[in-house]
Amino acid sequence: MNRTKIIQLLSAECSPGTVCLKGWVRTRRDAKEFSFMEINDGSCLQNIQVIADAKTKGYNDIKQISTGAAVSVVGELAPSPGKGQDWEIQASMIELLGSAPKTYPLQKKRHSDEFLRTIGHLRPRTNKYGAAFRIRSELSFAIHEFFRDHGFTYIHTPIITGLDCEGAGDLFKITTLDLNHQPTSEQGIDYSLDFFEKPAYLTVSGQLEAELMALALGDVYTFGPAFRAENSNTSRHMAEFWMVEPEMAFCDLTGNMDHAETFIKAVTSRVMEKASSDIELFARYVDKSLLQTLDNLVSSEFIRISYREAIDILSETKNRFDYPVRFGADIHTEHERYLAETYFKQPLIVYDYPRSIKPFYMRVNEDHETVAAMDVIVPRIGEIIGGSQREERIDMLEERMEETGINPADYWWYLDSRRYGSVIHSGYGLGFERLLMLLTGITNIRDVIAFPRTPGNIEF
Ligand code: 4AD
Ligand code: MG
Repeated sequence: MNRTKIIQLLSAECSPGTVCLKGWVRTRRDAKEFSFMEINDGSCLQNIQVIADAKTKGYNDIKQISTGAAVSVVGELAPSPGKGQDWEIQASMIELLGSAPKTYPLQKKRHSDEFLRTIGHLRPRTNKYGAAFRIRSELSFAIHEFFRDHGFTYIHTPIITGLDCEGAGDLFKITTLDLNHQPTSEQGIDYSLDFFEKPAYLTVSGQLEAELMALALGDVYTFGPAFRAENSNTSRHMAEFWMVEPEMAFCDLTGNMDHAETFIKAVTSRVMEKASSDIELFARYVDKSLLQTLDNLVSSEFIRISYREAIDILSETKNRFDYPVRFGADIHTEHERYLAETYFKQPLIVYDYPRSIKPFYMRVNEDHETVAAMDVIVPRIGEIIGGSQREERIDMLEERMEETGINPADYWWYLDSRRYGSVIHSGYGLGFERLLMLLTGITNIRDVIAFPRTPGNIEF
């Protein structure tokens, strides 16, 4: 048990000198006159050892208390002579709350991540996943704390939307129409009979609404789920993921990049401090270089290069890539990882991408060929943040909509924000799970969220 938990236990004494603990049994080991149990209540990584003997009430039923069972213990907290623990509970009473038969899948041995994914309902009870989900919680709070300390207003943007913010077309449709008997008109499905009287989707990003709020409240952020029906079964994509999206009025691309860098460093430091023993578990068993990676992330200045410079570096290397490298082509994960892992060996920001490969809302640069976009790229993962300065000039915005096949009439309200009191503004989206991968060394995004949603997988 960690210090916080011990203090909690002591401050909630049942009666003077006595503590109560409820939790799950990790192991039970019997000696001649004693039983030793390792109990974990989920609040921290460390178990606490409980010792029971004939004087303990409930001792006669001790044989039924096996790995996985839930128990309630009352006893005295005492300094432990055992190795690796400061405290133990000498039980005066032990009660079996919920038994766990021998079929309990998490018997004491190491299981593969692949196997544990098949028992997503139980894997939070393992050390590794318990630690991952506690770090997830700490990171969430660190993010809110950061924005609050920096004067941002926390806003909520809709989950149900009529728009494709990114223009990538990977939207989940939502409907109340009967899929077996869809009403049709000459144009196809007659959406006027659907719930919203037009096509509706799950949002891919709250950005457009966040922009409207930033143009009223100054600095704002959202932190919520986003949904993408990309059928890419990779270790970095999910159909449902969480995104943090700050949007800042009166902020240009440089300010945006400065902010993203400060933000990542601040929340990383905070989590390293608040969840140190959980992070240590990952540094010991999952990625031996984790602490070095995180220290480097926090202490080094991120490299900043333009897309053009990135293309030059990638064209000059002898490295073979699956996707072609040329101006106008997207930078893929393999390229990003080469830059972050092999070339620079540290996080970097690539900015000023070609307008032809980026969404309509990004601000067109003086050269008319590129837009004020930026991606933050980190070792082992690739892109972790995507953002831009937004197009604040209404004429240019309309030109970009036309160019990208978007009907300005559908975005009349977005255009209004440029018609009335338009100012320069910028923002970005951080993939929350990708940052968690970075903080834990976990290499598959399915393992940093309790119940992942990926193509063909909606169990639990
Ligand atoms: O680069 P993206 O697509 O940017 C946007 O959505 C902007 N509207 C954000 C903004 O400017 N407010 O996505 C942002 C980040 C990516 O860098 C990535 O980390 C994460 O979201 N992301 C995903 N994470 C998990 N699964 C997916 N399918 C993801 N797609 C994007
Ligand atoms: Mg992106």
